[in-house]
Amino acid sequence: MSAISKADAAGRIMVAMDYANAESAEGLLKQLEGIPCYVKVGMQLFYAAGPGFVASLKDRGYKVFLDVKMHDIPNTVKGGAESVTRLGVDVFNVHAAGGKQMMEAALEGVDKALKPGAGRPMVIGVTQLTSTSLQVLNDEIGLTGSVEQAVIHYARLAQAAGLQGVVASPLEVTQIKAACGDGFVTVTPGIRPAGADVGDQSRIMTPAEAFAQGTDFVVIGRPITGAADPRAAIESIIDGVIKS
Ligand code: C5P
Repeated sequence: MSAISKADAAGRIMVAMDYANAESAEGLLKQLEGIPCYVKVGMQLFYAAGPGFVASLKDRGYKVFLDVKMHDIPNTVKGGAESVTRLGVDVFNVHAAGGKQMMEAALEGVDKALKPGAGRPMVIGVTQLTSTSLQVLNDEIGLTGSVEQAVIHYARLAQAAGLQGVVASPLEVTQIKAACGDGFVTVTPGIRPAGADVGDQSRIMTPAEAFAQGTDFVVIGRPITGAADPRAAIESIIDGVIKS
């Protein structure tokens, strides 16, 4: 990615803190001190460490993506959105499969809870989970068509509801941007630096490849959290992005 600073590159990386408790997450934060990346708190850490932990991250100036993938009746999602907006998170997500009214309710919850002068959280939609195979989509979930068609359908629906973007595979970024426009944000997990362990991710790209596809943010977990030296791992990823 030409002519971007280390801080700009770091600001487009969301580190997935998939830990069982706050102590482990604090250990990582210490290692990454001063690097202006986002931190992603998913359901494992949130259910264990709670809203107080998220509030303390915000008190310390971290940019937080709360990845709890809300999916419920509109009134309940509205309430959930109010609560996470009060925590001050920068990004949170809801399942597009919950429908347009449910996604609109999330935005209403944000409006209701937002304090004057506070930054508005970005609300993004979960399209079709990258773990869903064609067989699961067609036979178990009961949707006809391909996974890509489902992803584009959900991305359009999220946009129609007023969401700012979606979580998707880096392989779907080009199609999403073509369908929804370049300004519609994509957040892409399934990222592996060259030579890293693939783990349980299947359709992967390197960070530089994902940015070359036009993605706005990459989500990276184990290649950083599981590295012997997490700081060296993220710095090497940042250098790779800048040089690409
Ligand atoms: O360790 P790894 O880099 O595979 O972590 C990816 C992160 O992105 C995890 O926190 C996972 O929950 C999340 N994620 C994903 N695929 C999706 C949505 C979220 O891997 N479709």
